[in-house]
Amino acid sequence: MIPRQICFADLQKGNIANVTTHSFSRQTTLPDRVDNLAALMKSRRSVRKFQAQPIPRELIEQVLEAARWAPSPHGRQPWRFVILTKAELKARLAEQMGSTWQQNLQMDGQDPEIVDIRLDKSRQRILTAPAIIIPCLYLEDLDRYPDEKRQSDETTMAIQSLGAAIQNMLLMAYDLGLDTGWMCAPLFCPEVVCEALELDTRLFPHALITVGYASADPQRRERLPLSTLIVRYD
Ligand SMILES: Cc1cc2nc3c(=O)[nH]c(=O)nc-3n(C[C@H](O)[C@H](O)[C@H](O)COP(=O)(O)O)c2cc1C
Repeated sequence: MIPRQICFADLQKGNIANVTTHSFSRQTTLPDRVDNLAALMKSRRSVRKFQAQPIPRELIEQVLEAARWAPSPHGRQPWRFVILTKAELKARLAEQMGSTWQQNLQMDGQDPEIVDIRLDKSRQRILTAPAIIIPCLYLEDLDRYPDEKRQSDETTMAIQSLGAAIQNMLLMAYDLGLDTGWMCAPLFCPEVVCEALELDTRLFPHALITVGYASADPQRRERLPLSTLIVRYD
């Protein structure tokens, strides 16, 4: 394997043609990886199509390590992660989540043909991603309050921090030459995910992050101008 520093030094010089990373060649979707945080945040993109190339475990661990350093309420780190790379588990998850989604779409009165297309796309995304990280909310270590309001606020804080942990992962993955895609499907059927993957039911799977080497560049979405986001500055 070629050491990462050498590969990314190439990238940083803008040498984007035929750069070899981790024993394979990537040309078509080689984004300019950047070496400063502001540019990295702008370059990170949601990728929905990946090459079949597996991801070395040490890269996945670096991505998870980034999550570990996210801020959290009282420093309680209300997150746990499930990592899937095996086809069998990905297939089981896709199948079982798909059934729930199918029921929901049918309930919404969607055209059965459209339902089939959407289900198949979603299934393919899960099956073809070389690695999947499922960030789960874990509330057991949070403070307990006698009233519902503060308990619910505590949970909201935990969810906010899970989002911060996920963003850390997305940025780290991108910095490592990987790409990611965020799928919200587990949020709608956490119990189905727990059952499919035989997880402790105190975990609440909140998202599904596909990780891999991009095989197609996505279209980026426009951002609102900063002036429309700042509703008051003093
Ligand atoms: C909470 C959350 C849920 C998302 N769920 C999905 C999803 O289910 N499917 C999907 O394709 N993208 C999903 N996304 C990704 C967004 O569509 C994407 O971030 C947005 O379009 C901006 O594009 P960019 O990430 O390339 O900048 C989700 C993002 C967030 C933050």
